[in-house]
Amino acid sequence: MTECRICGGGVEEFLDLGRQPLSDAFLRPADVDGEFFYRLAVGRCVACTMVQLTEEVPRERMFHQDYPYHSSGSSVMREHFTRTALDFLETELTGADPFMVEIGCNDGVLLRTVAEAGVRHLGFEPSGGVAQVARERGVRVRNDFFEESTARAVREADGPADVIFSANTICHIPYIDSLLRGVDALLAPNGIFVFEDPYLGDIVAKTSFDQVYDEHFYLFSLRSVQAMAARFGFEVVDVRRLPVHGGEVRYTLARTGARQPTPAVAELLAQEAAQGLAEPAVLEAFASSVHRIREDLVALLRKLRAEGRTVVGYGATAKSATVTNFCGIGPDLVSYVADTTPAKQHRLTPGAHIPVRPAEDFAAAYPDYALLFAWNHAEEIMAKEQDFRTAGGRWILYVPEVRVV
Ligand code: SAM
Ligand code: TMP
Ligand code: ZN
Repeated sequence: MTECRICGGGVEEFLDLGRQPLSDAFLRPADVDGEFFYRLAVGRCVACTMVQLTEEVPRERMFHQDYPYHSSGSSVMREHFTRTALDFLETELTGADPFMVEIGCNDGVLLRTVAEAGVRHLGFEPSGGVAQVARERGVRVRNDFFEESTARAVREADGPADVIFSANTICHIPYIDSLLRGVDALLAPNGIFVFEDPYLGDIVAKTSFDQVYDEHFYLFSLRSVQAMAARFGFEVVDVRRLPVHGGEVRYTLARTGARQPTPAVAELLAQEAAQGLAEPAVLEAFASSVHRIREDLVALLRKLRAEGRTVVGYGATAKSATVTNFCGIGPDLVSYVADTTPAKQHRLTPGAHIPVRPAEDFAAAYPDYALLFAWNHAEEIMAKEQDFRTAGGRWILYVPEVRVV
């Protein structure tokens, strides 16, 4: 057993996804030889219930100048974050000279709205390329990892933050102790720390095992987040389920006793107990379903290949690294992956080495089948690719089970 990164308890492994590459390391052909691999397995802490990876990838290997994920690539996510920013501007950021900090601001998808409103803000973003895009959008960025020392430096220079927000980033941070001491140092006495990340309840309910990859070190549940918050003098005072990225929860934390928790907290906790989210048997059943999906998906792709059908992937997601490498899906079964992100195009997918091509290539010559790796953006993608279906093309989905639509 490994040790829980938060409480030191024993971590009981329940799913082994094998040897995996960095999920966002899209390769030039020349990079293939030096490719980095690690063992991807996930377990649950017997003491605090936090679900976490058993091996940690050094952060500089994942988040650097060329980090290819651009948050603004989805119109649904642009809208989601614009609305989130406007909500904060109307509620928490109405005092005299308010100050908002974002951890992992990426290309400024959220903070651009705060900047346009003329409100004081700062985005922490260690990945230089996306940080530069945010700056060009008028966002004030610190090109650094948020941790205790950098948070203290901002507290000294800028004063306390009314809101510290983070989306799809806190679960990327194994060093939660340093992170939460940093939040403690920077947050105003009645400020809130709000973060949203993929939700273990949805991952188990949908068997979305592709949410497990190097960057997703933790798979949060309310129960495990409550235990984590309490260790550092915080309390979960509100929760909200979000439909984005296949199902997330937005947690609002305040200093213990500072704010009255809403009824939503007790409600979600009761739901988690009913779902058995902290129980080994439920997580083992999840692992069995993952193995079934692998068998079904590989069988389907082999059958289509034997019938001479063309199959391509859609969306070179970080999630798809887990799927292709766990299932052994290479260019023999999926000839290329279409993606709108310039930084991923004309590269090879990590580990599986499937070529990534611009989305225009997809429209230029439709395949018979498209394996939708970006299933979390299904509505947006299927709406814009309606002609593919009209032309007789079919989508292959593998969450919550393998099916053709
Ligand atoms: N918030 C955006 C969103 O929801 O689309 C970006 C999410 S992206 C998956 C994670 C981002 O967190 C990356 O841009 C990465 O560089 C950044 N990141 C990783 N560790 C961080 C840390 N310690 N402090 C601040 N940002 C960090
Ligand atoms: P995500 O699931 O981590 O947000 O990644 C989505 C990937 O899919 C990202 O590389 C961008 C790509 N994508 C498209 O190619 N077309 C689209 O319409 C959308 C929404 C995403
Ligand atoms: Zn623990």
